[in-house]
Amino acid sequence: MKKIEIVSTVHVIASMSELHKEDRELLDRAVANLDKAYAPYSGFHVGAAIRLANGNIVTGSNQENASYPLCICGERVALYNASDQYPGEVIETLAIVARNTKMTIDTPVSPCGACRQVITEYEQRQRKPIRILLKSDVSEIYILESGKELLPLSFDSSFL
Ligand code: THU
Repeated sequence: MKKIEIVSTVHVIASMSELHKEDRELLDRAVANLDKAYAPYSGFHVGAAIRLANGNIVTGSNQENASYPLCICGERVALYNASDQYPGEVIETLAIVARNTKMTIDTPVSPCGACRQVITEYEQRQRKPIRILLKSDVSEIYILESGKELLPLSFDSSFL
């Protein structure tokens, strides 16, 4: 039987001080955005910030609803905001941070499956990978060079 091995690479950075200024600034914007989350049901706040090729930063936060399936993740709010506000502009980096109001998180929280699918479609659309920065309250920082690191063998429009 043939076997395909799939390998993902995650760069691990110990602290914010080791990051480039631009990445630090983006993570700071994502952290500031945690307060905009509307998460009365889960108490789980997600802040996201996107750096575009034109230098602009666009943010997002998770928005919940009493009808739970209608909740939308912070990453996707940021991606849809970017696409709406700056159509066609290349998304360079997406920073995602999380805060659980019930406990301290010591590991970076990585995007849910639905968000991974959306990230890879924007990558396909712009024909460029999106760098992803992940950090939680007291965690290290994970850097991924593309959404594909999180979603290998992904489904895309080439099958349609
Ligand atoms: N959430 C995100 O915003 N991003 C993720 O990648 C995982 C989950 C939100 C959705 C919901 O409002 C809360 O976190 C709990 O699942």
